[in-house]
Amino acid sequence: MTQNILLLPGDGIGPEVVAQAERVLAEVAGSFSLSLELDTANLGGVAIDREGAAFPASTREKAMAADAILLGAVGGPKWDTLPAAERPERGLLAIRAALDLFANLRPAILFPQLASASSLKPDLVAGLDILIVRELTGGIYFGEPRGIDVRADGQREGYNTYRYSEGEIARIARLAFELAVKRGGRLTSVDKANVLEVTQLWREVVTGLAEEYPNVALEHMYVDNAAMQLVRAPKQFDVLVTGNIFGDILSDTAAMLTGSIGMLPSASLNEHARGLYEPVHGSAPDIAGQDKANPLATILSLAMMLRYSLNAPEAALAIEEAVSRVLDAGLRTGDIAEHGQVSVGTSAMGDAVIEALRSGRRD
Ligand code: IPM
Ligand code: MG
Repeated sequence: MTQNILLLPGDGIGPEVVAQAERVLAEVAGSFSLSLELDTANLGGVAIDREGAAFPASTREKAMAADAILLGAVGGPKWDTLPAAERPERGLLAIRAALDLFANLRPAILFPQLASASSLKPDLVAGLDILIVRELTGGIYFGEPRGIDVRADGQREGYNTYRYSEGEIARIARLAFELAVKRGGRLTSVDKANVLEVTQLWREVVTGLAEEYPNVALEHMYVDNAAMQLVRAPKQFDVLVTGNIFGDILSDTAAMLTGSIGMLPSASLNEHARGLYEPVHGSAPDIAGQDKANPLATILSLAMMLRYSLNAPEAALAIEEAVSRVLDAGLRTGDIAEHGQVSVGTSAMGDAVIEALRSGRRD
């Protein structure tokens, strides 16, 4: 059966990192006999420039038909002055909503080779392996009403609405419980139930599900405390589940614990495990087009795609092992290079992963 993959290179460093992942995909497609058909479409700023909208109808059509999607990054200073509703980031939110990608999995795993690249002391992060499960299609990102209006007194006022239905909370919480069962059996639900009614409901619904998962130790934590605990003692966590905006913020913090946000993959899944895979980092316009970006987060996102959407776990593992061997060999892009280490560029890093895949093949 041929599976359809859609590539959305996007903006900034997106095209460079996706190009390396595409080369890695071609390599594993060959060695694991995967039958894949690849297509490319525009999303974000590049789509605004070429097709007049951040998530054009042509991209939507291809996205709906794809078995899995690999995205680079969207956004950049060029489009920063556009009205909020027309910005590249809205394209990303629109594709998440169109495909109902409510579950965003953001693992923060420390490669032992990078322990000293973390901003925390090596003993605090050695062996770190946490998974943030972020609700992705609801909460304050999507709540209505929203806008900037002129009030009766003539002042402008901006507002957004933070809302979650029981059903939205239950489906993401259930997935987080399931993932916790498969991992270390611990789940931390992050909310602000001491202030926000919406997250008071969140806490109630999550608590209600707990009895179905007697083997999972559930705890609740306020988001401010969770932010502190993540930098104080991150290894206390196994799986964290939280709403859209808290997950956005906490996943950047968790990313930095691992040495570089340039290392972290993510998966956004719907009920049918169809998904969009993307590096957690953004479009990094300051280094775009200079062959400096770290392609490993995108390459690792590709591994997640092979595992979760394409049913090719061996190919996923081969990629992850190849990345590990490349790090063992001392290869570093600028973001993860330490004092005195020579750094390589984006395409040299891609070359090294492909070389490691070839030499690691047991045939
Ligand atoms: C992320 C990003 C996006 C988000 C932006 C680009 C809209 O920060 O994926 O974490 O806030 O969800
Ligand atoms: Mg973010």
